[in-house]
Amino acid sequence: MIEQTLVLIKPDGVARGLVGEITKRFEQRGLKIVGLKLTQINADFSKKHYASHVDKDFYKGLEKYILSGPIVAIAIEGLHAVETVRKIVGGTAPKDAFVGTIRGDFAHVSFEHADKEKKSVANLIHASGTLEEAKEEVALWFSIDELHSYKRTDDDHVL
Ligand code: CMP
Repeated sequence: MIEQTLVLIKPDGVARGLVGEITKRFEQRGLKIVGLKLTQINADFSKKHYASHVDKDFYKGLEKYILSGPIVAIAIEGLHAVETVRKIVGGTAPKDAFVGTIRGDFAHVSFEHADKEKKSVANLIHASGTLEEAKEEVALWFSIDELHSYKRTDDDHVL
């Protein structure tokens, strides 16, 4: 049941100086950071990461958004990590994300507004949707030697 999942702090999260605040939310829940890097991706890599969205109407805007600045990629490990991380992140559209989640606390834009402005929804974060997706995405973003295994001092209390 120990899973690994991928979190991306998208260019708006990095540009707004929210890297520490966002990372803290996962760490305080007891989830373990096992990979972490700041990186700027290109269009080819975006198409690989968002392969299931490439044919959608919003993809062009999504690619522009995701290439607009550096991204922090985090591999996170923990019990039920995929589901727990998604709960901490909140719903895809910040307008509908619950208060207390990252998107619900730091953004409020709607799909309607973004579509009208022909922009992608600036929703701060990407988090893998399923365990299968998480395995593929962690492998896409991190090489084996960039992933680390260690014991957190609070493992005995929070696991
Ligand atoms: P993310 O979790 O990174 O996964 C796919 C992204 O596509 C999503 O966050 C949003 O940024 C974007 N997205 C999904 N649906 C729409 C939509 N209807 N209009 C605009 N952007 C979208």
